[in-house]
Amino acid sequence: KNIVILISGGGSNMATIVKTAQQEKWDQRYGARVAAVISNKPDAGGLAFAREQGIATAALDHKAFASREAFDAELAATIDRHQPALVVLAGFMRILTPGFVAHYAGRLINIHPSLLPAFTGLHTHQRAIDAGCKFAGVTVHQVTAELDVGPILDQAVVPVLPGDTAETLAARVLTQEHVIFPRAVRALVQAL
Ligand code: GRF
Repeated sequence: KNIVILISGGGSNMATIVKTAQQEKWDQRYGARVAAVISNKPDAGGLAFAREQGIATAALDHKAFASREAFDAELAATIDRHQPALVVLAGFMRILTPGFVAHYAGRLINIHPSLLPAFTGLHTHQRAIDAGCKFAGVTVHQVTAELDVGPILDQAVVPVLPGDTAETLAARVLTQEHVIFPRAVRALVQAL
């Protein structure tokens, strides 16, 4: 059971999943492995980490494609070379076309830094602070054609503290991302 992880930046969520899979021996216990890490940013820091771990990597610069559909078609072809049982969006900052989402229906998950359905979209931490929220958090969900609203798989909550900035809140949320994302992926690969 191959897992393909898509990233756009540092890939701390991807790295946490890779390390958890290694430490918990997912390959032996569930026949599951992270087969590839793919990015839409050739300079994504997470690609270097994946290469160091001996994981196949690929980068597709979305600026090199004439349309969103053309990019998604090439992205799907690249992903499918690894016969994925599960595709994981981990800090992947692209909106995917309905055709791409349909192709991976039921085996495509994402992590979003808010307590969905609150605060879909961007700048979630600043919006939570501006709204006077006392709690914030993170959601792992199935990806559907509509942005950030698929079935919820797992969540974690953190307090919003007096004086919090978007950066301090983001850091607190990120630590919980690293807890629930590996937990959610493990639960899925156990069930595959
Ligand atoms: C994180 O802030 C997370 O909330 C969102 O993307 C950002 C970067 O994640 N999913 P990562 O370090 O690239 O995994």
